[in-house]
Amino acid sequence: MEWKEKIARAASYLLECVTMRPTIAMVLGSGLGDFADTLEEAVRIPFSQIPNFPIPTVSGHAGALVFGKKQGREVVVLQGRIHFYEGLPQNEITLPIRVLAAIGVKTLILTNAAGGVNTGFTPGDLMLISDHINYSFSNPLIGPNLDAFGPRFPDATDIYTAELRDEIRTAAQKAGIPLREGVYMMFSGPSYETPAEIRMARVLGADAVGMSTVPEALVAAHCGLRIVGISCITNMAAGVLPRKLDHREVMETAARVHDVFQSLLDVVLTVV
Ligand code: HPA
Repeated sequence: MEWKEKIARAASYLLECVTMRPTIAMVLGSGLGDFADTLEEAVRIPFSQIPNFPIPTVSGHAGALVFGKKQGREVVVLQGRIHFYEGLPQNEITLPIRVLAAIGVKTLILTNAAGGVNTGFTPGDLMLISDHINYSFSNPLIGPNLDAFGPRFPDATDIYTAELRDEIRTAAQKAGIPLREGVYMMFSGPSYETPAEIRMARVLGADAVGMSTVPEALVAAHCGLRIVGISCITNMAAGVLPRKLDHREVMETAARVHDVFQSLLDVVLTVV
């Protein structure tokens, strides 16, 4: 089956399942998935029911699309995502983003857990992504271009819309939510980076590192969505502190900042 047809089938399935027509979508990262539980009038559709949707395999990633209302606005939440390190090509793991665009989404809020490279950061900090470095050695737009979605050579100068960032910064400040801002660098994972790789990342201009978000942002930018990126700094990256990295720390920090993270998402929803 052609990509266009795969996307169209998934989109028409969703349009039959739900009456809501949200223009805002969110992708919730590791340990951050339960924002979906705060939606009103929620309709939950497991990825496994949606034709052609890839299925996540990592714990902390439930794998469902949740439609619902927040502050009176319709949103659709991708609870759990598929990572490049799970083994599928980037054009496959990002299929859900194109499906969201096909059902009418215009703004995408991407969240993730990330390691702090900037030594001024502390675990628990929230960072607005200003730009990214794609160090995954792949690109989700490799292959035939889907002309119906966007151009062969899409611009990437303002992926994380500067105008939205200005508004979010101001709104977060008003709400008393401390917010960092910086460059997110994607490594493929699943092994964490080495201390030498983190020193390299710092020299190259990264403030945080992670294993997601970049493929989704590139596909979303290709199809003209407005993008907001938020990293939860769950740990300091390898070698910054004299200790080893552990996925448990990622989940524990995500749980610890749960409330302020939810408040930030609420604030973001007021401006997008
Ligand atoms: N590196 C890569 N991905 C991550 C990290 C990290 O330190 N923390 C959470 N996700």
